[in-house]
Amino acid sequence: MENKILDVIDMSVEGEGIARENNLVYFIDGAVEGEKVEAEFIKQKDNLVWCKLVKVIEPSYRRADPPCPYFEKCGGCKIMHLNNETQALFKMLSLKRTIKKVTNLDVDILDTIQSPLDTRYRNSIQLKVDRNPDGNVDIGFYESRSHNLVSINDCLVCNEKNIDLIRILKEYLQTSRLNVQSVFASFWDDNLSILVQTDDGECEQELYDALIGAFNDVSLWCSKQYVASTLLNYKEARHFAGPERITINFDGFKIEVSPLDFIQANIEVAKILYNEIASKVGTNKVVLDLFSGIGITSLKFAQNNNYVCSIEQIRNSVESAKKLAIENGLQDKIIQHCGDCAEILPTLEFSETEKQNLVVFLDPPRKGAGKALIEALKNLNPNTIIYMSCNPTSLAKDVRDLLDTYKIESMQAYDMFPQTNNIESLTVLTKKDS
Ligand SMILES: C[S@@+](CC[C@H](N)C(=O)[O-])C[C@H]1O[C@@H](n2cnc3c(N)ncnc32)[C@H](O)[C@@H]1O
Repeated sequence: MENKILDVIDMSVEGEGIARENNLVYFIDGAVEGEKVEAEFIKQKDNLVWCKLVKVIEPSYRRADPPCPYFEKCGGCKIMHLNNETQALFKMLSLKRTIKKVTNLDVDILDTIQSPLDTRYRNSIQLKVDRNPDGNVDIGFYESRSHNLVSINDCLVCNEKNIDLIRILKEYLQTSRLNVQSVFASFWDDNLSILVQTDDGECEQELYDALIGAFNDVSLWCSKQYVASTLLNYKEARHFAGPERITINFDGFKIEVSPLDFIQANIEVAKILYNEIASKVGTNKVVLDLFSGIGITSLKFAQNNNYVCSIEQIRNSVESAKKLAIENGLQDKIIQHCGDCAEILPTLEFSETEKQNLVVFLDPPRKGAGKALIEALKNLNPNTIIYMSCNPTSLAKDVRDLLDTYKIESMQAYDMFPQTNNIESLTVLTKKDS
């Protein structure tokens, strides 16, 4: 099929440019609203056509020159071709559009809170590893919409320690027979917490030696299972060498983390968000902290003289949370429950006074809270629900299911992942009759 010249009139929530012609809707990766572009056909389904950007004929003032050499291939940074101001606007509008589509509400979304760093902001990295038939090792990320590996030496959204790690892993794996498939690593100053997925779930002391030769402290874990960000899969992961947990200082708290614990990837934005959430919660309340991870928000709420009841499914994280509460002297103010929020919540009992003082904070994974938990929340009937979300679609569905009794007080995107189309947001809901 011949290339088409198209006028880009809109942007999809995925970050593609949208053009319309003869009842067809075109999605063009890398094109910006307001541009005239040349596009090459990739595939069509009904009246939807996906295209590749061939040439920008008339560029938009919103376009930026992507500084990353892998931008066109790598599936990670889908909106690096938008300038920072437009990225912020894109996230606000995408959130608004998703809420409208699911709930039919026109919500005033506050301006996006931007990240203090727009590159080198990630302290963690998730890498795929491939050993070629010639013995060479490729390390990198998948191409957009495929399982083809883009081999990288640098990633501009990750901090420099992660880049040192890529180099060290490449050098090590070139001479070792260890069959690594993926790696999940996070850095805290010069301390590394790392989980490697190998074909047999085993690891090598020599890998630990290579890492400890380069970094101050290393907690090395291994697993046979796929190293995904859904850490619930890590049932088979085992500690291999170094300390089980790395001790870090997070916003004044002494915190211990292992690679099995969820920690936000952009610490600077996480600090801004956590402070905002703590201020919205206030003081002298009973706070339900749902999907609480290792309990950083619980610590912040307890520090502000609130009583906290947290629920988290990963046992390892709950153990960390208990230790943290003790080490930070806040154990009398936090009760941790381990299990599925939707199962545990209906079993909790609160007095009438506690119920009147109740604030719920939830921060679910990408799939959202889900019907059963939303139903349990409605039965509990707290005055305020504060919802932190990393997925506008699941947020919109959960909010829709709350709208018979709750109204949206505020909604705002936080740019936790600059250059990517991921949207983190904070929503405050209050009871309609309060
Ligand atoms: C987005 S993280 C938030 C963690 C924490 N609020 C933080 O900021 O560090 C989601 C957490 O929910 C946990 N989780 C996922 N599904 C769960 C469920 N059904 N019940 C309880 N916890 C769950 C995950 O293990 C993860 O720690």
